[in-house]
Amino acid sequence: MVVPYRHEPFTDFTVEENRKEYQEALDYVKTQLGKEYPLIINGEKVFTDKKSTSENPANHKEVVGYVSQCTQELSEKAMQAADEAFNSWKKWDPAARANIIFRASAMIRRRKHEFSAWLTYEAGKPWKEADADTAEAIDFLEYYARQILRLKDGIPINSRDGENNQFNYIPLGVGITISPWNFAFAIMAGTTVGPMVAGNTVLLKPARTTPVIAYKFMEVLLEAGLPEGVVNYIPGSSREIGDYLVDHPRTRFINFTGSKAVGLRIAERASKVHEGQIWMKRMISEMGGKDTIIVDNDADLELAAEAITYSAFGFSGQKCSACSRVIVHKDVYDTVVDKVVERTKKLTVGPTFHDNSKFMGPVNDQDAFDKILDYVEIGKKEGKLMTGGTGDNSEGYFIQPTVFADVDSKSRIMQEEIFGPVVGFDKAENFDEMIEKANNTEYGLTGAVISNNRAHLEQAREDFHVGNLYFNRGCTAAIVGYHPFGGFNMSGTDSKAGGPDYLLHFLQPKTVSDMF
Ligand code: NAD
Ligand code: ALA
Repeated sequence: MVVPYRHEPFTDFTVEENRKEYQEALDYVKTQLGKEYPLIINGEKVFTDKKSTSENPANHKEVVGYVSQCTQELSEKAMQAADEAFNSWKKWDPAARANIIFRASAMIRRRKHEFSAWLTYEAGKPWKEADADTAEAIDFLEYYARQILRLKDGIPINSRDGENNQFNYIPLGVGITISPWNFAFAIMAGTTVGPMVAGNTVLLKPARTTPVIAYKFMEVLLEAGLPEGVVNYIPGSSREIGDYLVDHPRTRFINFTGSKAVGLRIAERASKVHEGQIWMKRMISEMGGKDTIIVDNDADLELAAEAITYSAFGFSGQKCSACSRVIVHKDVYDTVVDKVVERTKKLTVGPTFHDNSKFMGPVNDQDAFDKILDYVEIGKKEGKLMTGGTGDNSEGYFIQPTVFADVDSKSRIMQEEIFGPVVGFDKAENFDEMIEKANNTEYGLTGAVISNNRAHLEQAREDFHVGNLYFNRGCTAAIVGYHPFGGFNMSGTDSKAGGPDYLLHFLQPKTVSDMF
């Protein structure tokens, strides 16, 4: 009997013992930096001549690892291995598949700080954010393993006299998991394990800047007993192997999480039928966000300022769920802006691999650094810079948390995903206008309403058009099993990762009617 799911608790870093253990994990991971990593195809380690260099974004001279790059030829080999492995993996008892995942989860839990320390080095995560990423990875494993146990016998349907009808779920085939760098462990692991525990086989193509944490996860899966070929680790060029595998006639589904531009490109390619292909590819595409917090005139303004500041600047705003726009009732607008600016000025920015003293670490890489600062320049023309607006990339890619006031909700910095520590404020005359402005982007991922007016909250429940809506809290930090996650409109296909029916994306129901 499997114990009921509950989410993995976060580490309390006010406890000295916990801080000491995390520091030890960082010290250990430091001794592991700079190694070479192979591909893993059909359980075999394959080193290639071409390597990518994964760097510490807080100290770009420091190499986290050199990672072999998959070629088209090797990706074909991986596809064939996954296709072959599917024939036996799909017949495994789902409970046995789940047991591998429970074992993997237990192994990760025992080495939790080590995994988080890799995230601090490779993704520049502050301790709290790295700990949450690892906890979420554990949650995905625990939650999806239980979900297949619930689905494995299908759902009872009606039978007439002399008839026995069955409704069961069967897996699809080979899928490609394409994951982003910002939840380099949680999303990579969740979008791999969900389809895999459901009986599919997977080609895992991790993000360019965070391949080492994905390799560490692969090691755990294999040690936990995953058969060869069920998950194949193939980091590589998006143009070379990404397009090749998306187009491949044996690809049955694509489980993508990343930007709108890439998600749409893949969806378009995936819709084309290639020679030898006998199905329509399924496309799960979780994309960007432009997430709004609205603050009502009777709201708890301290709560509002806290929720906005954390949602905008936690992990330097590099969350699809991050608050990048705030709409405030005109009566409390100046107070809310002042409170957020005051808090923002106190936030500390710097490397997080020495100690836990900094609230924000670096942004992802030079491209992200340039893009965010370009948007800061745009913001200076569109609104009033209240604090921040500067960056320093001499050692790592650091950008100060930045607040713009008096920005029109239709302006570029209020419409386009910046994916960095930048938030803009606009005001509204009344609650209807607040909702209208909150909804006026092409996205629809998360949103929050800070209000003590129950009628307004109920109005927002109906009319605020986002996949994850929160009342009187921030708009980040969804928990697996508690806040199923996914967005509307250009935020994607609303797959609701960490939700009760997530695995159905990777299963097809089959009806069998037996006449006696
Ligand atoms: P990205 O779109 O640049 O890359 C995502 C992944 O796609 C990476 O692994 C990349 O290597 C791969 N990729 C790029 N081009 C490809 C191609 N042609 N074929 C195959 N693979 C290709 O996104 P990113 O910078 O890694 O992540 C940030 C973005 O992800 C933001 O837009 C953010 O909002 C979004 N995101 C969304 C969610 C969600 O649940 N909705 C969660 C996390 C991140
Ligand atoms: N789970 C992440 C959040 O909600 C994406 O912030």
